[in-house]
Parts: sequence; structure tokens; C-alpha cells
Amino acid sequence: MTKGYAWLPDRMRSSGGSPVQTRILGRPATAVHGREAVRFFYDDQHVRRRSALPGPVLDTLFGRGAVHTLDGHQHLARKALFMSLLKNQGAVARLTELVGAEWDAAAREWAMRPAVELFTESSRVLTRAVCDWAGIPLGAAETAELADDLVAMVDGFAAIGPRHLKARAARARREVWLEALIRTARADAGTDPGTDRGTEYPAGSPLRAVALHRDDSGRLLDSHTAAVEVLNIIRPTVAVAWFVTFSAHALERWPGGRDALRRGDPAYAEAFAHEVRRFYPFVPFVGGLAAGELRWQGVVIPEGSLVLLDVYGHQHDPDLWPHPYTFRPERFLGRSVASDELIPQGGGDAATGHRCPGEDITVALLARLSTRLADINYLVPPQDLSISLRRVPTRPSSGFVMSLRVPSDA
Ligand code: HEM
Repeated sequence: MTKGYAWLPDRMRSSGGSPVQTRILGRPATAVHGREAVRFFYDDQHVRRRSALPGPVLDTLFGRGAVHTLDGHQHLARKALFMSLLKNQGAVARLTELVGAEWDAAAREWAMRPAVELFTESSRVLTRAVCDWAGIPLGAAETAELADDLVAMVDGFAAIGPRHLKARAARARREVWLEALIRTARADAGTDPGTDRGTEYPAGSPLRAVALHRDDSGRLLDSHTAAVEVLNIIRPTVAVAWFVTFSAHALERWPGGRDALRRGDPAYAEAFAHEVRRFYPFVPFVGGLAAGELRWQGVVIPEGSLVLLDVYGHQHDPDLWPHPYTFRPERFLGRSVASDELIPQGGGDAATGHRCPGEDITVALLARLSTRLADINYLVPPQDLSISLRRVPTRPSSGFVMSLRVPSDA
């Protein structure tokens, strides 16, 4: 990850598309690519996740004990919690409405300032809305600090030096904060039947659902793990700010999308969201450990070695995507997308494997906010909009500065 997005696709090209065998942090690793490889990787008989993620990633991005690190029945039980909260049309619609309302209120305020940076502003919009949705009390004065911490956890996971230390500090601080909220939510709800005092934390809210979730042996999660999993809902929701900023970049570079979004066709808005997720670099690859000795395209993958699935290369493979470096939402119109085809948030089945359970939320938020962006008038002052492929995760260098104070003759 410290070598950037092109590392794996470059190695894949040099190997002529065959699996690449290399070493990462001293561990043997095999990288695989393509639709068949997605199916191979997401077969849980092939790849397991326990002990696969290095400490620096756990202590910043995901948290110790997270659903990402579980296998088998433990994973299924924990994943069912995420599926019920996130792959739920009512919940997706409510969160999307809250985000839209927060965006509208923020946009009125942006219009009174000379210019705003979209990345930071959208992270705050998303933070306010997701906390409201999740049942997490958040004072207006606390929003910016929380948004910065959630962004830092994502921004620093693959870095070394100050960015990484900032991510660790942000996680440590937020786990302590959420552990206290989990304990209060439990005291409020009563963990035994009939003891519900249900006051501050609304029934059905994600915070309360995580607080009261029981693992596969019927026990409540310890309060630290519960805090980690609440963060695994709010942190990636705020990470949608990366894609919102990429949407603005796409509207700037390919202005035709703006008129199409303004026509208000929900199918086009969804296709636009898919194309943003395909085209722009976010997740370079996903990884796990070989569950036994595996064979893939003539290569032996030793048990316990790393298996990497090339995500960024997959999304720009000309055999899968004609003209992969052209931004063309139309490629997703009038058809469904297969589970091994578009994999910015993993592949396979979200209910049984590790595919992201937040994909519906991501697509809905991105469709809504891309349309909002297309609907408002703004100027884009001169700035550095380059997107470095050496930085993980990357974004337009300037964070996308825009001015909503558009002169009347503009
Ligand atoms: C910003 C956009 C997002 C991106 C790029 C993204 C990407 C991913 C990826 C690549 C995975 C791992 C797949 C694997 O290990 O095989 C994942 C898993 C996960 N994501 Fe997302 N995600 C996003 C948004 C969300 C949202 C909005 C939520 C929740 C509201 C969420 C919650 C999760 C959880 C809980 C997992 C772990 C699933 C498991 O291990 O079974 N993500 N995501």
C-alpha cells in the first residue's frame, strides 16, 4: 500500500496476467486478478481472514476484533447484524434523506463564504447525518472534531509517520468515547427482558442494536468490540466524502454528466455512482490468508500465505471495461451488475462473505450528493486537482475548492 495504486497492476502486466508471487512484510504473497479470481478469492474454503490484517491496519482502519477479522460461524453471526442494519431499504432511505437535508443546510451556509473545500465540508455533512441516523448524540460543536478523526483513521492506515500516528490517536480516542456510549445504551435498554428504560437511545437505532447484539454463543459483545463495530458503521459512511470529492472532479472533467444528472433520472444517478466507484482509485486490493494449500492458474499457493485480489487493476482492465480510462456512466445503464464484475467494495455475496455491507448506502448517498452537486451553481477557482496514484488513499490534492458565490452574470 505504501507503493501506491500502480504497484500490483504493473506487476500483473509484467507477468502477462498470471498470478504474481511476491513477499509483503516478509510474508509470501500471491496476487490474483480477474472475474474468476474474484470467485476464487471470495470462496471461504480458500481464503480466511483471522490474523490476515497487520496490526497497523487494525489499529487505525478497522479496530481489533472487527467483523473484518472473523471467519466461519463467528463471521456469519456478526455479519447478520451489519446486514440487518445496512442492507435494509428503509434504513438506507432514512440515512439518504438525513444526508440530503444536512447537505442543503450546509450549502446555504457555503454560499455565504468566499470558497469552501468540498472534501472537508462533505465529511462534516456525512458525520452529522450518520450520527443522527445511528442514534449517537453529537453536539454541533463536536462535529468537526469527530469528522476529522473519522477521516484520519482512513487517511492514515497505509501511511508511515505523522499521518499514521494521527490515525492511531483518532481511533484510540473514539473507541474510548463509544465504549462509554455503549455502556450507557445498555444501562438504558436493560440487557434483560422487561428492563428497558429506553430513553436516550431510540429502539432500532444502530448504536442500540450493536450494544444489544449477541454473538454466536449468545453473549453480548464486550464493550470495546461493540465500540469497534459502531465505528465500522460511522467511519466508512464518512469515507463516502472521498467519492463525493471524486464526483465533483468527474463533473469538472466530463461536464456532460451534469446535464444528465440534472434531468433527475434515478437510473442515471445510480450509474454515475457506479462509474465513480469504478473509475477513481480508493481500495487498491483486498487480502486474506490461504486456508489450505491452494492451486490457482498453475501456481501453488502455500497454506497460511497471503492471497491478494487486485481491485484497482480489475476496475481498469480493458478486457472487462472498454476504454477503462474514460469516465462513462452509460456503461452501467439498462443492465444489472454481476457480483464478480464491479468490486470497489469487494466481491461475492455480502451476506455470507466479506463483501461490504455498506454498498447500498454508498451508492444511494453518492447518487443523491452527485445530483445535489449537479444542481447547484459554483465556480471552481484555479487549484491543483491532480490525483496522485502514489498516495493511498488518494484524492484531488486541493480537496476540491469551490465557490458558491457565483456572480449573477456567470
Ligand atoms: C466509502 C465507500 C466504501 C468503500 C470503498 C468500502 C470498501 C469496503 C471493502 C473493500 C471491504 C472489504 C471487502 C473484503 O474484505 O473482501 C469492506 C467491508 C466492509 N465495509 Fe465497506 N466500503 C465503503 C462504505 C461502507 C459503508 C458506508 C459501510 C457501513 C455503513 C461499510 C461497512 C463495511 C463493513 C462492516 C465491512 C466488513 C464486512 C465483512 O468483513 O464481512 N462500508 N468495505
